[in-house]
Amino acid sequence: MLTLGGHGPRRGAALARLGIIRDGALLVRDGLIAAVGTRGKIEGLPDAAGAEKLDVGGRVVLPGFVDSHTHLIHAASRAEEYELKIEGASYEEIARKSGGILNSVKKLRAATSEALKLRARRALVQFAAYGTTTVEAKSGYGLDVASELKILRLHKELAAEQPLDVVSTFLGAHVVPAEYRGTPTGVKAYIALLTEKLIPEVAQEKLAEFCDVFCDRGAFTREQAKQILEAGKRHGLVPRVHAEQLTRSGATQLAIKLGAASSDHLEQVNSNDIAALGKSQTVATLLPGCDFHLGLAKYAPARKLIDGGAIVALATDYNPGTSPTMSMPMILSLACSALRMTPAEAITAATINAAYALRREKHIGSFGVGKLADLAVFELADYREIPYYFGMNTCWLTMKRGVVVHAANKTTI
Ligand code: NIG
Ligand code: FE
Repeated sequence: MLTLGGHGPRRGAALARLGIIRDGALLVRDGLIAAVGTRGKIEGLPDAAGAEKLDVGGRVVLPGFVDSHTHLIHAASRAEEYELKIEGASYEEIARKSGGILNSVKKLRAATSEALKLRARRALVQFAAYGTTTVEAKSGYGLDVASELKILRLHKELAAEQPLDVVSTFLGAHVVPAEYRGTPTGVKAYIALLTEKLIPEVAQEKLAEFCDVFCDRGAFTREQAKQILEAGKRHGLVPRVHAEQLTRSGATQLAIKLGAASSDHLEQVNSNDIAALGKSQTVATLLPGCDFHLGLAKYAPARKLIDGGAIVALATDYNPGTSPTMSMPMILSLACSALRMTPAEAITAATINAAYALRREKHIGSFGVGKLADLAVFELADYREIPYYFGMNTCWLTMKRGVVVHAANKTTI
């Protein structure tokens, strides 16, 4: 049993400390962890006498994965662009030809809430099947008042209607929508719509906890990001950013100055950015699924970030354009093989550090008394086999707040 003991985020050498208990057990009451220890100790507790026993048969148990960066709500895949990319078009070339994010915006605006919700619910079933128990979800494929609010209201409905926790982020600043493009006044008008209308309304209706901006070439500049994130802050939305993915925009330095919860992507960070992250509480969230899916050679410098003391987290970035996966174990495989993180570091980055990126480290991300009974059980003998196997699902059971939400299929051959 990997406990990941403690509330705090992990830096440097501490990322490799998993708090392993051999033959471990948990006592769960009302969805919360009541005791953690060896099986002998837990079974001897007076409260354990009347408890229902779930024997996981010597398998690997760890806190449920916290996926701290997803674009959960979208209408359809972009498999047609995937093929174009393989044939040689770059992500940015496709975006310029009104494909890319704007392609997804068109599809989302035309979709009903019911269709969007059904697709998201099916995705959440997959997240659970791969051991994830908390999913952050960003808006950003609506980009007009009605469509952005439609997405954020779906986050709320999904959080209420199914067992996984859904943490809502407002990403109205994903890109400038087509109808505002082409002139500087148009862009200004869209930013005013975000800061003067949407952000106040999102905050008023409590539709999001975080405000995100895609700060890059073809999206928003650092100055524009500052304006939007500051407006979010004034309304109680905690900043986070898409930073240094395609180019170095300086968004990470901005994020740190604004006290952002996380700075995500980071393929193009420089040594100043790494040093600044090492001294800050802003989490460096790495999304290697994007580089893998887009076939890009340059992954984020995970080793330098860890050695520089940054709080490194991992997430899927589940979205139709750059990272169509709900599998955290696959992200762990990429983190190990492509980013050269060790299996232990990758697990910490996907649990307690990711919980910190969502400012929920007191409740999820590790096993401790009073924390949620969120866990994943893997059909494996050694935790290093979680990233070692790839492109297959070894998750045997997932529990959310003490309730089994996934149990591996019984296939008969
Ligand atoms: O995190 N970088 C911006 N946003 C997404 C991609 C969105 C898309 O292509 O649809 C990302 O990679
Ligand atoms: Fe993203």
